[in-house]
Amino acid sequence: MTAAICSRAEPARYGECPPTEDLAPYPGALVGIVQDLSLARDMPTIMEIVRKAARELTGADGATFVLRDGDLCYYAEENAIAPLWKGRRFPMSACISGWAMIHREAVAVEDIYDDPRIPVDAYRPTFVQSLCMVPIRTKAPIGAIGNYWASRHHATPCELAHLQALADSTSVAVENVEVYAELEKRVQDRTRELEARSRELAAEHAALLELQRQKEELSALVVHDLKSPAAAIALAAAVQLRSADLNPAERRRWSAVFSSAERIIRTAANVLDIAQSQDGRLVPRYADVELCGLLAEIRDVVLPIAEKHEQTIELSCDVPAGALRADRDLLGRTLHNFVDNALRYSPTRSTVRIEARADAAWVTVAVCDEGPGVPVEMRERIFDRYVRLEGNGRSGWGLGLSFCKLAVEAHGGASWIEDNTPKGSRFCFRLPTTLVQGTLMT
Ligand SMILES: Nc1ncnc2c1ncn2[C@@H]1O[C@H](COP(=O)(O)OP(=O)(O)OP(=O)(O)O)[C@@H](O)[C@H]1O
Ligand SMILES: [Mg+2]
Repeated sequence: MTAAICSRAEPARYGECPPTEDLAPYPGALVGIVQDLSLARDMPTIMEIVRKAARELTGADGATFVLRDGDLCYYAEENAIAPLWKGRRFPMSACISGWAMIHREAVAVEDIYDDPRIPVDAYRPTFVQSLCMVPIRTKAPIGAIGNYWASRHHATPCELAHLQALADSTSVAVENVEVYAELEKRVQDRTRELEARSRELAAEHAALLELQRQKEELSALVVHDLKSPAAAIALAAAVQLRSADLNPAERRRWSAVFSSAERIIRTAANVLDIAQSQDGRLVPRYADVELCGLLAEIRDVVLPIAEKHEQTIELSCDVPAGALRADRDLLGRTLHNFVDNALRYSPTRSTVRIEARADAAWVTVAVCDEGPGVPVEMRERIFDRYVRLEGNGRSGWGLGLSFCKLAVEAHGGASWIEDNTPKGSRFCFRLPTTLVQGTLMT
């Protein structure tokens, strides 16, 4: 028997292989296989495609997909009429796939029992009579694809060309998988870093919140403790101011004491109420409020401040008794803040006018002054905490309007600012009325 050894198998160039009947269904099939391989994102998918394609392309009785594993050849997949070596490893130097990888060239063996490179013991239990093997990635092979025939067969240059085309596409697909795996690993590493950073930030945020809570608790305590002595001072000053024996200088001094003490009380109440509102605890305690009477009371409280700057307070109230249910304390302090601002930010000898009216839906109050007004773009922001307009020349905390807004909203109402005519602003708010078309809601 002549040894039909083709130690150096020369594949034809792929374009030189015309589609022939015995090589059907190529080359169209190869195009589809290359497309499938280009979409593969992992090794199992590549192996599955190659396992099937390698056999179909040549019409062989079996095909193997071999991967290089250090100095070993790992028979990773196969597709054959009977089992071959799937899952087994052989030294590179002792198998034909190793030979193809070491020599970086295709090999065709017509009779395996006549070729010294073939470890015949491994082939004896199999059906294989002839084979061909092409390396995957010729420059630095990472594996090989084998074809096997049960009867004597000499692989043609075109069969080898098809198989080599498959091996080249497989090589590109494997590199793609490696690139994707590397990218995915980087994304995972980066995601892990970001998650760790976001956990750190969350912990820092929680610590800051706790610190802020402790600070607010402490300032609420301090503020609370300021209220009682300030109330005692305000009361003493009010008693003095009621005395008819005061000369103008004494009256001015007691007036200053009263307005300072009253300011401490109001600021303390604002701070405490804003803190309560943040905790969701600013809940009105509703009762019938006779608004015109309440407005007169507020006017009396701020009168010493108005007198100090020779300002006039006018009151116009057209709200029937029983038109309003509200928290009298919250409403009183809301009015107090608005009127206090109107006096503080208006010039000497100006007039502050308080208007109140009711319609079918709302009780609306407007505190109008002849001051500098509030720029349109600041009319919403000014209700935020600590926001103050520059250049008004008065000291303050920037808390009064925030409290007003929260208190009004706690009643289901709204606050806003309008222009006053001919000058100044109108600080308005409205609360739902209990009046329904002239009758009272029960
Ligand atoms: N009637 C007004 N006319 C013009 N500017 C006003 C008027 N009312 C308030 N402002 C502006 O809005 C700012 C915020 O008012 P807000 O009452 O909230 O704080 P404050 O008066 O500065 O301090 P406080 O917390 O003691 O009341 C004021 O600093 C002032 O610049
Ligand atoms: Mg104020």
